[in-house]
Amino acid sequence: MSTRVKTTVSMKVPFFRPAVSDPEIAEVVATMRSGWLTTGPRVRRFEGAFAKAVGAAHAVAVNSGTAALHLALEAMGLKSGEAVLVPTMTFAATAEVVRYFGAIPVLVDCDPVTLLLDLDDAARKLAQMRGGRPPASLPPGASVVGVIPVHVGGLLLDPGAVRKFASDNGLWVVEDAAHAFPAAWRPDSGSAWQRCGEGTSAVACFSFYANKTITTGEGGMAVTEDAKLADRMRLMSLHGLSQDAWDRYSGTGGWDYKILAPGFKYNLTDIAAAIGLHQLDRAEAMRVEREAVARRYSEAFASLAGLEVPPEDADRVHSWHLYPIRLRLDRLRIDRDEFIVQLKAAGIGCSVHWRPLHRHPYYEETFGWRPEDLPVASDVWQRLVSLPIFPGMSEDEIHYVIETIEGLCQRQSKS
Ligand SMILES: Cc1ncc(COP(=O)(O)O)c(C=O)c1O
Repeated sequence: MSTRVKTTVSMKVPFFRPAVSDPEIAEVVATMRSGWLTTGPRVRRFEGAFAKAVGAAHAVAVNSGTAALHLALEAMGLKSGEAVLVPTMTFAATAEVVRYFGAIPVLVDCDPVTLLLDLDDAARKLAQMRGGRPPASLPPGASVVGVIPVHVGGLLLDPGAVRKFASDNGLWVVEDAAHAFPAAWRPDSGSAWQRCGEGTSAVACFSFYANKTITTGEGGMAVTEDAKLADRMRLMSLHGLSQDAWDRYSGTGGWDYKILAPGFKYNLTDIAAAIGLHQLDRAEAMRVEREAVARRYSEAFASLAGLEVPPEDADRVHSWHLYPIRLRLDRLRIDRDEFIVQLKAAGIGCSVHWRPLHRHPYYEETFGWRPEDLPVASDVWQRLVSLPIFPGMSEDEIHYVIETIEGLCQRQSKS
């Protein structure tokens, strides 16, 4: 059994501790000794292995999940002035990539329990846009062309329902699957499982940021069934060059290249892919470890009146990237911020996913979003706390989080 690297963060229980093991370290060292550090043979292997792991025809490795989303929208042909449905309950990246094109993110509310994009509200916002009565102060006349569902925490938003909504309304789907590897879905218990990225949308975009379900330090992957989309994303990921450096310098290629389009600098390094290759080998084992932590929490917290636990669904394989509890503020004498202060005082790292986009100055000031335009997210985010969940969490750490939260809820209970 290989040793896991210890964290340098001095919390009793950190919010996250990366599960880095000896094989990753050895592969990075081998890469450093190989004479080839940037995009090369290890990136190609990582792409192939990841495509196989999610059941996709093509995978393009890039240096962040944000880059994957940007390339996906570019390949879909997004244009300035067009509009895209984006959940307000997400990270900055999902909407900022729409802004890169001068396009308009139309924010959509979330489900109060799953926190996932609410397709009924998406239909409402779409009708407002297409009826010439846009929400907030969005420009009238912007044509809505796509939707970007986000699988918050690793719980898949029903890909069948998203697909139907999109095809009924002539929209493309690009998934923000930053949290959703490995994750899967089936329509019902009699149907086959479909993995996230296995044809669940035009392009599914994964993140390998430091605290994601697998990491390369920084990194991402765009997967698709469509060879044309894959070719375009690959081209644009490296300055729009006709062939990359590995092709030019390894035995097969010549020195010359042509600039075919003004691309970006989004390629992943072989050093990062070296980490990813071995993280990938352990992805399911690490998911199972996180699932066990989630189950322990949910069993222990079921009887606490002061909070609600995240939902489970028999028709989902949940990646359990996050474990977000929703506080019952009507049952507690403290608010969410004080709850987090007290957990921090006890040495437990936690976070909030997320302050919704419409409560950030940029989206308030640029598009005039008000809390009442997205009432569910406006309410629920003030109750959210994400608890520590990571592979390699010790029994003592799990027990300490549970007993601290039980004590806090009891002390601060209104009844
Ligand atoms: C939902 C979501 N989308 C996209 C991203 C962007 O991923 P990256 O940090 O790899 O660019 C993140 C990162 O935290 C995320 O949480």
